[in-house]
Amino acid sequence: MIRHFRIGSPIETESVVRQVAVEETEPGRIQEKLAQAVPGTKVLAADKALSFALGDGDIVYGLGETVRGMNKRGWLYQSNCSDDPYHLEEKHSLYAAQNFLLVTSKERSYGLYVDTPGLVTFDIGYTKQGEMRIALEDFDAELYLVTGEDCREIVREFRELIGPSYIPPKWAFGFGQSRWSYMTEDEVREVADRYQEAGVPLDSIYLDIDYMERYKDFTVDPEKFPEFSDFVREMKERGIHLIPIIDAGVKIEEGYPVYEEGKEKGYFCKKEDGTDLVAAVWPGRVHFPDFLRPEVREWFGNWYSFLLDQGIDGFWNDMNEPAIFYTEDHLNEVFEQIEDYKGKNLDIQSFFEFKGLVGTLDNNPEDYRRFYHDCHGKKVRHDKVHNLFGYNMTRAAGEAFERLSPDKKILMFSRSSYIGMHRYGGIWTGDNRSWWSHILLNLQQLPALNMCGFLYSGADTGGFSADCTEDLAMRWLGVSLFTPLFRNHAAMGTRRQEFYQFERTQDFRRLIELRYALVPYLYSEFRKAAEKNGMYIEPLLFAYPQDERARGIEDQVLVGESIMIAPVYVQNAAGRYVYLPEEMKLLRFRGWDDYDEEELGAGDHYVPARLNEVLVFLRKGKCLPLAKPAMHVSELREEEIRYLTYGDAAPEYTFYEE
Ligand code: GLC
Repeated sequence: MIRHFRIGSPIETESVVRQVAVEETEPGRIQEKLAQAVPGTKVLAADKALSFALGDGDIVYGLGETVRGMNKRGWLYQSNCSDDPYHLEEKHSLYAAQNFLLVTSKERSYGLYVDTPGLVTFDIGYTKQGEMRIALEDFDAELYLVTGEDCREIVREFRELIGPSYIPPKWAFGFGQSRWSYMTEDEVREVADRYQEAGVPLDSIYLDIDYMERYKDFTVDPEKFPEFSDFVREMKERGIHLIPIIDAGVKIEEGYPVYEEGKEKGYFCKKEDGTDLVAAVWPGRVHFPDFLRPEVREWFGNWYSFLLDQGIDGFWNDMNEPAIFYTEDHLNEVFEQIEDYKGKNLDIQSFFEFKGLVGTLDNNPEDYRRFYHDCHGKKVRHDKVHNLFGYNMTRAAGEAFERLSPDKKILMFSRSSYIGMHRYGGIWTGDNRSWWSHILLNLQQLPALNMCGFLYSGADTGGFSADCTEDLAMRWLGVSLFTPLFRNHAAMGTRRQEFYQFERTQDFRRLIELRYALVPYLYSEFRKAAEKNGMYIEPLLFAYPQDERARGIEDQVLVGESIMIAPVYVQNAAGRYVYLPEEMKLLRFRGWDDYDEEELGAGDHYVPARLNEVLVFLRKGKCLPLAKPAMHVSELREEEIRYLTYGDAAPEYTFYEE
């Protein structure tokens, strides 16, 4: 059941699709009603906060893409979409704002959605272990309380409220190779050739910012990609989709049609004085389209046809928090201030002030207060609706694809997001690093994303920043083989990490073949989750609610109805301990047709796993279909499916076709 309370006068986010009548708006009465449902709840209007009591046995799931574990207790999180490439435990925000929480104990469970586009702080037992305090910068929010029998029912109810999840084309479950950047047609060809020579399946190659002409959206550099549509066709004939990046900022350049049109129509975000904000990202000076306006979304969305018309059928939207290197106004202020330090003896205080001047130019909170949006005819300062920007950029694309390509699914995923965006695209989890801890973080983010509808997601496999090693890349497959988005991506300046760069290319090949063998299962489980508002990847507790031990398991998840995975994420480990809530069949895969099988009883087991081995556990009474791998998803054949079963499961499975 869903109950709807309104605090203050929140700005409409359009994240919810089902109308639920507002029960209460008066804080005192909201408190009364909330406290009846969740004893101990307080509405602290003076502190602009809500307070919930947390019992010892409560687990708090949710918040989508954030740092730390699946159980969010013990830290303070902020919904404040941030371009931050250091995903450290000490951070409070990443790229997304997904304000849904699921609190569960043996006695009761409830979900909570705080729908408000501004800054929200979730102190989940950080200040006081027994309290969850949700503080809003402005005390305006649509508040939804979701109750149900168990975690799955609460998620289902919530997802019905926010509408159906984005479903990508099936080929988007294939493997994708990316790097910032493959600079020319020939570099892209080389990636395709090398994978092909190594016999490794591949469905897509990503084009990062350098395919554009001086980083201008909806352009292609004619020197690096002279016959772009021919090249797109050539790659498609080889079974490979090219996926270009689109950035949020539009380069300011006379004669550049996107800029000229946006300027003429008044579609860019404006400052207090009515002039267009000048910020800077990759191309230097840019304007930001006001994606919160439907007509701006329609206009920007139509520009995707520039690439669609050349045969492109997938995109990734980036820098849409929006990331700001600097604003022109702030830069000028800094130049002036720097003058004052010239010739001075910089002491402890003045040196750090001086250093801070340049160091705090990018993504400065002050800059998010320098410009405005037109929200349903009202002028609203950006920071008040900050978390809606990336959502609406991707919505612009999603709405356009419905118009421009009604019969053909287009791949779309974004970096920044807010709940609601899950209807238009997936997300990737941004600029992680080639760190062992990020394999675990990757795993832990997925169930939280699923809860709020973001089913199509995955991390930069092998890590984006820092140098990747062969063992790290291989162990990462213990997670990535199962994520809907499976992409190897790395930053400029890092060691090359395409799988053919490493000595054990053939081990990688066999594991990627396993991914392709799994695609019919993974795709079907994904579709089931999307259509039934269920989870594709879920914490053990969802399936085993009575299991005391499952409550504390943070490094194993269920993938669809048949399997549990338990990746090895410690360098040089020769295996790991795995907890089985019930008896299961261990499948220790080295390749789709090369694996050990062992029946294991419920309880704890040490399970050895060599570097090229991926641990999968088949649930009792369930069946895992495996296709004969192919070089591309489109070549997988249903007639060639083998069924692995455990217990009395019939060797059959209902597949979802595209
Ligand atoms: C951002 C993206 C990253 C991309 C880079 C260059 O850092 O998160 O994936 O490679 O920009 O476009």
